[in-house]
Amino acid sequence: MDRVHDPLMSPLVWDLAHIAAFEELWLCVRTGGIDPLRPDLLSVYDALETPRSVRGDVPHLDLTGAREYMRAVRERALRVRESGAGDVVWDMVIQHEHQHNETMLQTLALAEPGVYAPPGARARPRGATRTGGMVRIPGGPFLAGSDERGFAYDNERPRHEVHLAEFEIDALPVTNGDFLEFVEAGGYRHPELWSEDGWAWVREDGVSGPLYWTGDGRERRFDRVVEIEAGLPVMHVSWFEADAYARWAGKRLPTELEWEKAAAWGPDASEPRRYPWGDTDATPERANLDQTAFGPVPAGALAAGASAYGVLGLAGDAWEWTSSEFSGYAGFRAFPYREYSEVFFGSHYRVLRGGSWATRPRVARNTFRNWDYPQRRQIFSGFRCAA
Ligand code: AVJ
Ligand code: FE
Repeated sequence: MDRVHDPLMSPLVWDLAHIAAFEELWLCVRTGGIDPLRPDLLSVYDALETPRSVRGDVPHLDLTGAREYMRAVRERALRVRESGAGDVVWDMVIQHEHQHNETMLQTLALAEPGVYAPPGARARPRGATRTGGMVRIPGGPFLAGSDERGFAYDNERPRHEVHLAEFEIDALPVTNGDFLEFVEAGGYRHPELWSEDGWAWVREDGVSGPLYWTGDGRERRFDRVVEIEAGLPVMHVSWFEADAYARWAGKRLPTELEWEKAAAWGPDASEPRRYPWGDTDATPERANLDQTAFGPVPAGALAAGASAYGVLGLAGDAWEWTSSEFSGYAGFRAFPYREYSEVFFGSHYRVLRGGSWATRPRVARNTFRNWDYPQRRQIFSGFRCAA
């Protein structure tokens, strides 16, 4: 709990108390107007004042202390809620907690074997092992982004009209089987397949496959090393790897707005869908959109998860890298604080869309934008191609 399992991540117990501190700040202090329980903790658990690189060294609560702090904060927060205040902030606080749940799962996946064993894997449906089909999305205008009255992040707003040319997008995410072909074709040895920065990264880090592949046909998943399943969406690849694969396949990555159109709109749609399959966060068949599966389902296994255009597996399995850099839509206004999105604009982060098996449904909506550096692959990241 208290260890730094990977320099990219926080000690797990820091995430836990950070969730509580965020709730205390936004709900108790700023919405409810009550004094903080532990004013001394707010800077320890402020993500910018205490960046990841120092979280292992700064004194912070131990597990018992973090649980006690969380319990006390929640009791106060619920009283603020009972007074009727802060609908939108409440929703933000829940989403924030959900996002940190996923961050904690990334840490647990990175941790050395012996630290964490997920509960028994569930039986999973079968899917396609080879992809290849593409769906044609007609050109023309659509409305991108969110205008919901409930909580959506500032970077999803405002809703605005976007004109796209006709394009094609892979019907399924790129699978392990697909990616293995790229590896076996010498993908990591041909500089012409890579962006300049991507090739420098491959050389410097000695990269020869996705993060958890062990080079012998197997991959590590949490505490276990297992045969790579060809039909699962490839995961833990960087943007650089996704970009190189797309070039090798004679395709390209979709822009984030192409992705959103393919996910949220359809041939006869007059309104966007909240999730690719509709407006409810899960269908019975879509029960994998929950963290207890501890992994994605095979590409194309869940036909009812299709978007109205017939694109499969867009949300709930692996995040999908897009070609887009992270910036604000025209008319962007920071809300409720600049440090959620705005401070990251224009720093060459790339946008990921869709949400992984580790993303809670409340977060995995079609307009949600995730971002990370192009070399990162601790996230549950995959991709699909466009043309
Ligand atoms: C949207 C996942 C990039 O973890 O840095 C959590 C989410 N922001 N607490 C991150 C977030 C503040 C954010 N990402
Ligand atoms: Fe946070």
